[in-house]
Parts: sequence; C-alpha cells; structure tokens
Amino acid sequence: MTTEATSTTDATAKCPVFADFDPLVPHHLDTGRPISEQLPWPLLARARREQPVFYMPQIDMWCVTRYDDIRAMLRDTETFSNAGANEMRTEVPAEITIPEGCPYPTIGDSVANLDPPNHTRVRKLMQYAFTPKRVGERSEQIREIANACIDKFIDQGEVDLVPAYSNPIPIQVIAMVLGFPIEAADRFRKWTDDFLELLANPGLPHDRAVEMWNGLLDSFEYIRNHVQSRRESPENDLISDLLHARSDDGAPSLSDFEIISNTISFVIAGTDTTATQISHMVICLQEDRSRWEEVVADPSLVPNAVEETLRYLGPVRGLNRVVTCDAELGGVKIPQGSRLFWMGAAANRDEAAFENADQFDLHRKNMSHHIGFGALKHFCIGAPLARLEAQIALECLIERLPSLQIDEQTAPYPPTCVMPGPLNLRATWTPPAR
Ligand code: HEM
Repeated sequence: MTTEATSTTDATAKCPVFADFDPLVPHHLDTGRPISEQLPWPLLARARREQPVFYMPQIDMWCVTRYDDIRAMLRDTETFSNAGANEMRTEVPAEITIPEGCPYPTIGDSVANLDPPNHTRVRKLMQYAFTPKRVGERSEQIREIANACIDKFIDQGEVDLVPAYSNPIPIQVIAMVLGFPIEAADRFRKWTDDFLELLANPGLPHDRAVEMWNGLLDSFEYIRNHVQSRRESPENDLISDLLHARSDDGAPSLSDFEIISNTISFVIAGTDTTATQISHMVICLQEDRSRWEEVVADPSLVPNAVEETLRYLGPVRGLNRVVTCDAELGGVKIPQGSRLFWMGAAANRDEAAFENADQFDLHRKNMSHHIGFGALKHFCIGAPLARLEAQIALECLIERLPSLQIDEQTAPYPPTCVMPGPLNLRATWTPPAR
C-alpha cells in the first residue's frame, strides 16, 4: 500500500498507460478473424511484459494483466472491492419509479455486489443449490433441451449455431433451474439484453431507455411473484432451495430482497457467458480440425475441451473492482477511488502460469488453473452448472453432428472488452440419412 497518490485526478495525470491498446477499438478486441490472427493476444502479451498494470484513459479504468497480480488482487477483497463495481452507467429516467424491494438500478444484494462479511454469509447460504451433485440432477433435462435444439435443424445440413444452439440452451436451462416455465426463456432473453445494454450504454435515446426500464420492472414483478408462490408451495427448484437455506452457525436465512437480487444476477451472469462458452468450444476445436476429430473419436476429452476453452478463449475477458484505498499492484501505485478491470483473458495467456500459453492444448496438465471463472471468494458460483451445460452441449454436437464444419470468418463480435461473444457462427455438416 502507498500514501503517495492522493486522488484519482492527481495520479492519473502521471500514471502508466499502454498506448497501443484501446479497449474501445473493435480490432483490439476481436473481429471474427481466426483466433491465431486476432490482435488482442500479441498486444496483451506486450502489456504483460512492458506495462502489466496500466491506465486506460478511454474508459477511466486501470487494467491488470498478469496472472499473479490478478490473483493477489482477487485475494485482497478489502482493498479491491465489489461494492459498486457493477453499476449501471445510465440515469434512471424521471418517469420511472423503482418499487420498494426492487434492486434496480444495481443488482442489489447479489453476491457479485457484496464484500465480506455479508458476501460470506449470503454465499454460504446459496452454496448448497450449486453443488455439482445438486446441479447434476438436471443432466437429463439439459440433454433434452440440447437435443430438442438439434432436432430442429439437423436435417438442414447448415445453421447459424449462435441463435439456434448456443443462445437457447443456457436461457432455457436457467429458466428451468429457477423453476420458471420454459416459455419464460424469451422474456429472460429480452430482459438480459436490455439490462446489459443499460449497464454499458449511457447514450441510449430517452424513449428507448424508458421502454427498456418498463420491461425490467415487469421482470422484477414476475420474479417477485414467483418467489412468493414458492414460499407458499416449494418445488424442486433453485428458488425453493434458496428460500429454505439455513446455515449450521445460525446465520439468518436469505431475505426476499437477497433472493430476488441473486436470481437477477443468475440470469444475467449465467446466460450470455454460457452461450459464448458453447460457441467458443466449437471455434477452438475447429481452429485446428484435428482437435475436433480427436474429441469426436474420444468423447472422454469433452471436459478437457471445456476447461481449455475457458483458459484459451474464455467468455469473460475481465471484470471490475473499486479500489478502496491507495494501493499498489505489480509495483504500480493506484489511487483510492480508481476503477479497475482485471483482464482474466490476458492472465490466462500468461507464460509465467501456462507453458506455451498461446497454444490450445487438449492435454494441458494445469488447464484447470485458469481464471475464466475468477478465483477465490468471488469464484463463479454457477461454475458447476456452466460446466455441465457446456459438456452436454458439446457431447450432443459431436455425437449427432460429427462432420460439422464452421466458417470462422463469419463470426463477427460486438466491440466490448467485458464479454465479447460471436454474434453468428455458420456451420455445415452432412445430414443423417433417413
Ligand atoms: C461459462 C460460463 C460462465 C463464466 C465464464 C462465468 C464467469 C464468471 C466470473 C469470471 C466470475 C467472477 C466475477 C468476479 O470475481 O468479479 C463469475 C461470478 C459469478 N457467476 Fe459466473 N460464469 C459463468 C456461468 C455462470 C452461471 C451459469 C451462473 C448462474 C447460474 C453464474 C453466476 C455467477 C455469480 C452469481 C457470480 C458472482 C459470485 C460471487 O461474487 O461470489 N455464472 N462468473
């Protein structure tokens, strides 16, 4: 820790920048070129070597790129806080009234927004609902969802995998796991798209913002009614698990506000991420077709394909923290009040942590050391569900469409450095003989 830097403004005037990387320039992120030709990786490798912690004036945030620095930062939850790290950047329009008990415009008491000790209490109460055993009870239903998607397009011999496969699986799974009817998936899709747009885009036209806000408030009422109905008559679902969670140490159980906040965050955090993971597994395996063929020949490699994709091309490039006091990271002084972006994607390519880090390797020994799900206290609580969905989605594809080929050049990405996922992914295969 340091006492030299006294305010963000003073310090950012002389802070280190890495001028070659601009988080707002699309081709510094991804452009749908083959992965080996994408620009961010060589740029981020230079950042790790030359300026591993740097200030990004374009978005007024600090970027951390090295594996060890990020782990040190994630360990120190007092200095690098989650409280206020994930807030919407848009004003709530004057005509919108936020009802009592509604967490918007933040994600309220979601674990993603809390620091210890409150984080520890809430997370402990939720943990049971996300154990691999509890989540594993959903395997057959997830397989049915994946197979139902494939049934719709298998005879065509071609499809855009993003809208037909990667997107529908996670949104239907999360609706099912939370105990909503499967038809709620469409409502969830619109709601998460609107939430993320409001979160990221301060310049939306006023009427559009009002319309989106009204949709968000409808979704809040929908969830609130669902929680109420499960309180009266529990079922075998995640909301009922949360309502009945009790800890051994007598900590108070979860309030409705905490359950609603976390439900919102499961839907937001668990859909686009997992959708991109499904697309990225296909892209990574097809980048060198012998990888795809190896997994088709030996499906026991599917869990490795999931883990190595999370390392090599994970869906979450990085996330935010707020710096609560003057701090030092990787030898760089960062002033109190700064906002920080930990670039897990850069850390997952750090040679100090992974040998031949720029190679996708289905047999890498330490692939599970990646930080694609974060690490330590805020490690992704949905990881067992995400892994299961990703495994089943890939198993169904290699089993039913072993001849699948993709045209990676047709995979455009949106210009974002948080969770860029392909918008399209054209695939072709030989349809089965009938
Ligand atoms: C492949 C898919 C997924 C990826 C790559 C992913 C990635 C991440 C990452 C990197 C974090 C750490 C955040 C931080 O430290 O700031 C995180 C946290 C979280 N994830 Fe995921 N996630 C995925 C799927 C899911 C799913 C399916 C759910 C819910 C059902 C979920 C719910 C959450 C929640 C609630 C947190 C906050 C945990 C905490 O702060 O204690 N995620 N995720």
